[in-house]
Amino acid sequence: MDQTFVPSRETGFSTSPDGSGDGEVARTPETLPTEFETIAARALTRRRFLGTGAALGVGAFLAQLPVTRPAQAAGQFDFAPVAANTLDTVTVPGGYGWHVVTSWGDPLWSGVPEFDHQSRGTGASQERAMGDNNDGMELFTTGGRHILAVNNEYVNRKIFHGNRASHKPENADDIRKSKAGHGVTIAELAMRDGKWSIVRDSSYNRRITADTKMDITGPARGHDLVKTAADPGGTTALGTWNNCGSGRTPWGTYLACEENFNGYFSSSDPDYKLSAEMKRYGIKTKDRGYGWAGSDERFDISKHPNESNRCGYIVEIDPLDPASTPKKRTALGRFKHENAAVTLATDGRVVVYLGDDERGEFLYRFVSDGRYAEGGNNRDLLENGRLYVARFADDGKGRWIELTPEATGMGSQAEISIHTRQAASAVRATTMDRPEWVAVSPVGAEAYCCLTNNKNRGKKPNAGGDATPVGGPNPRAANHYGQIVRWAPDGGDHASDGFSWNLFVVAGNPTVHKDAYAGSANVNKDNMFNSPDGLAFDSKGRLWIQTDGNYSNAKGFAGQGNNQMLMADPATGEIRRFMVGPKEAEVTGITWSADRKTVFVGIQHPGERGDSHFPGGGQTVPRSSIVAITRDDGGVIG
Ligand code: FEO
Ligand code: CA
Ligand code: CA
Ligand code: CA
Repeated sequence: MDQTFVPSRETGFSTSPDGSGDGEVARTPETLPTEFETIAARALTRRRFLGTGAALGVGAFLAQLPVTRPAQAAGQFDFAPVAANTLDTVTVPGGYGWHVVTSWGDPLWSGVPEFDHQSRGTGASQERAMGDNNDGMELFTTGGRHILAVNNEYVNRKIFHGNRASHKPENADDIRKSKAGHGVTIAELAMRDGKWSIVRDSSYNRRITADTKMDITGPARGHDLVKTAADPGGTTALGTWNNCGSGRTPWGTYLACEENFNGYFSSSDPDYKLSAEMKRYGIKTKDRGYGWAGSDERFDISKHPNESNRCGYIVEIDPLDPASTPKKRTALGRFKHENAAVTLATDGRVVVYLGDDERGEFLYRFVSDGRYAEGGNNRDLLENGRLYVARFADDGKGRWIELTPEATGMGSQAEISIHTRQAASAVRATTMDRPEWVAVSPVGAEAYCCLTNNKNRGKKPNAGGDATPVGGPNPRAANHYGQIVRWAPDGGDHASDGFSWNLFVVAGNPTVHKDAYAGSANVNKDNMFNSPDGLAFDSKGRLWIQTDGNYSNAKGFAGQGNNQMLMADPATGEIRRFMVGPKEAEVTGITWSADRKTVFVGIQHPGERGDSHFPGGGQTVPRSSIVAITRDDGGVIG
């Protein structure tokens, strides 16, 4: 990995200052802001907060931000853009094709029944089949074999339990099936006759569910806050669920990221008093429809209040050892984790960028104590390190603030690793518009993060009472479109505490709005989108953007169609739509084959509102799926 960082006045990125929304991006020499421009930018931000900046156009203030980029230019676009649509299928550019690799309920072993569109499986079959709602994923290749690890974020209850009249779990086996629909699926893939599919009975195949035994590692291990009746030592948790984005380490492990873990707990005592800490993480007494506490008492918070402190972590899994015990890495903090973007500092320490996807929550960075050594023993580098939270200034600079007992006033590092949100609030971190995936550039020292949307921006504080003022990387009140922020660490070293930032794109709809909600200058009628979420760089340094947004194709979202995947050139800011997903689906999860000739893409929750039969068509049950996209000429795709 090239860690060199060359701040250049020649290759700087600058969005067109006229905010015309015509898609033209001015490729101008870097212009560092003058004092006047910095002051002007602050003034614009302030006016915007006061609600008077709407007529100025987003480009007007984006242009004021200093941007530093490495000298390398990314690859060119090599496909014709795909038009927005509302079809119940996957649309790719001419010269490309796609096929379904696997869908919810596909057996991993022979002897397991094929997915049954009537029953939609049982507890026993689901435990040995692909889980539901695939999200983040990574493909590992060893000795010519291809092993996919993929998160199964949640179950689409109306569809998953659609065999029941209530469309809800009705008995203990339904709960067993639900817990097995979650977690992680590990499956060997092979290409046969030009199509990828699961290798049944592979020795690599494995299901990790909400009941799989896991080690609790790092500062929280053994702390009183993670001790339960079933685990008085506070060292062993059961299961992982609501894993959203993914990550992979240079030493070949998979990172599953526990996001909305709170929604599975409830209380048999309706008068149970929730602690402030529970409230900050969104724990509620009322069941939200999963019903897990009904057949597994550990999800009853009135009986086992510490159980909820044992989830909300990054889980490290060895995808090549089906007998290995997954490890909850508490040093990386507890919050609603999106993904884990792993890179290396100049000195070999491991740096992981982490978003907390909730309105007004924060962006984090972990830096390991130990250093990565190729071929060395790197297995526990994520066990110990320092955790930081981002503070953005309006002048295009920012700092990572370390979360220590001294800085936060909290009792111990263990407490910080469990109640991380409170620690970040204590150091006055910047409240963000829902940080989703972070991606680190492979060609220069910079990172990007999707800030998906935040209807509460400028309107309501976060759950901890922290204000959410308009400004900095969160420039619009009632933000329904989202934006992508990027930063370059000082000195090109991801372990530096200072960074420069700007907004790479501010999503919007220039056919509906003429103000800041039209989006930045690199958004136009042909590439517009909302709610960027999944994010990854390909080997050429091109940025792939996946969306999880409003697919109504109406009003403020008219002309944007279904959720989609776009490709962006970090050097020019140009964005082009590459793919459109089926109806009522999110496009999420992306990984490439080792030869870079296939890109695997996740289609999550098609038909979540009842209007899709993807991928089977006819009257089949819609099923979350992974699709493979290849070039007709067999060439490299990224
Ligand atoms: Fe599961 Fe933040 O998306
Ligand atoms: Ca997501
Ligand atoms: Ca999302
Ligand atoms: Ca999702």
